[in-house]
Amino acid sequence: MFKAPFLVANWKMNYGIKQAVQVTADIVVGLRGMRRKGQLVLCPSYPALLSVKQTIGDESISLGAQDLSGQDRGAFTGEVAPWMIKEAGAEYVIIGHSERKKYCNETDESINKKVKNALKEGLIPIICVGETFEERQENQKDHVVLRQVQNALDGVKVSPINPIIIAYEPVWVIGTGQAIEPSDAEYMHTLIRQVLIDLYPLVVVDHHTAILYGGSVDENNVDEFCDKEHIQGFLVGSASLHSQQFLKIIEKVCKESSAQS
Ligand code: PGA
Repeated sequence: MFKAPFLVANWKMNYGIKQAVQVTADIVVGLRGMRRKGQLVLCPSYPALLSVKQTIGDESISLGAQDLSGQDRGAFTGEVAPWMIKEAGAEYVIIGHSERKKYCNETDESINKKVKNALKEGLIPIICVGETFEERQENQKDHVVLRQVQNALDGVKVSPINPIIIAYEPVWVIGTGQAIEPSDAEYMHTLIRQVLIDLYPLVVVDHHTAILYGGSVDENNVDEFCDKEHIQGFLVGSASLHSQQFLKIIEKVCKESSAQS
């Protein structure tokens, strides 16, 4: 179901409708003539979802939201339900980003609720996990990430119609311009994959889950991660904001993955 390499652009709260449409249009033009593999997902802010979808048109680019409500409908001022995101044309939704944990009181419990709500509506959740600097210093990173994955997936039946994506993002490197060592990321990805194998049949894990790396990925370091067996793609923040920079990343990732296949 998932076609690696998988590239997700997380534009966070940087672009309104106008800029998101402009960057999308530049990406669409830049992709023409590029030999592309895998899947590409753009995640603009809520108000820009529909316009970005229209700008994508028939191109094989998918749309994702950056969060969603754990509720379905009704008196929840400011919340956005999964079906609304779907209606705007999105197929994916980022859940539990570390910035939401830090600034918006997102917890393992609320993340689990949102994952279930996304799947119920047919949205594919991109579940963010990752340790803080303090947790890493205290040798807690394996334990923390295992706990986050297990809790996010508590009671979730992953299947061909309920695929999921995990994004491993060490919190302390996000937005710093300094990614972790690729071998370090591969170690964490192997660990996450093992948790998934403990929870679901191997065939489901192989075909209906993907594990991405995120945290200061850019056009200069992305190729170092590409040959790692369990890194199936990337969640890119800052370096996805500028179309030319993001296109370079796409080009490199596609080239590396062609060289390996
Ligand atoms: P970054 O952000 O690429 O700017 O580190 C990644 C993310 O927050 O998803």
